[in-house]
Amino acid sequence: MSNETRTEAALAHDAMERAKFREMKEGTKEDWAKIGSQYMAFAKDLPDRVLDHLRLLDGDFGGFPVCRLEHSLQTATRAYRDGRDEQYVVMALLHDIGDTLGTYNHPEVAASIIKPFVSEEIHWICQNHGAFQGYYYFHFLGMDQNVREQFRDHEHFDACAEFCEKYDQAAFDPDYESESLEFFEPMVRRVMARPLKSMYAKAAENAEAA
Ligand SMILES: [Fe+2]
Ligand SMILES: [Fe+2]
Repeated sequence: MSNETRTEAALAHDAMERAKFREMKEGTKEDWAKIGSQYMAFAKDLPDRVLDHLRLLDGDFGGFPVCRLEHSLQTATRAYRDGRDEQYVVMALLHDIGDTLGTYNHPEVAASIIKPFVSEEIHWICQNHGAFQGYYYFHFLGMDQNVREQFRDHEHFDACAEFCEKYDQAAFDPDYESESLEFFEPMVRRVMARPLKSMYAKAAENAEAA
């Protein structure tokens, strides 16, 4: 919201809630109480920001038979209908969310977003799905189809190959009846409700208890 659309009182209230330091090394416990309380409110809205960003893929075909949002919904729907758990389904939904900002490394963007909320295996699948997905098309672009072989001995090789085979490479069918983004929203909210691991997890826990 721009400053012009806010009342004087709201702006004054915001100013009161701001830390006083000009350099972090001048910071006080009071400063960080103000920042901490607002951080928690901001963190709670993460699922909304993620869902908004996912919607940016709507109508973006890039030459594919379905747009990137439909591909995401179809990947998640196929995983869901195959009985995968919520962490897995949310990963499937978000696996290409980095297409907009991570044009040259999109799997890492999604992997970073979901990392605090999912198992190490699901994070690994997300992070490396690009190399495994290449098995289905890199050779058409003069690249090495078998680039995934560098991971052959990794404990999650088979799980990542399975994700691509069953859900990701299979999710370009314009006639498939995918679930809507609204269908997956509650799952995204549940999975992202609190971090399982993060260097800020302890602070989040303390703020929630306060
Ligand atoms: Fe991808
Ligand atoms: Fe994909």
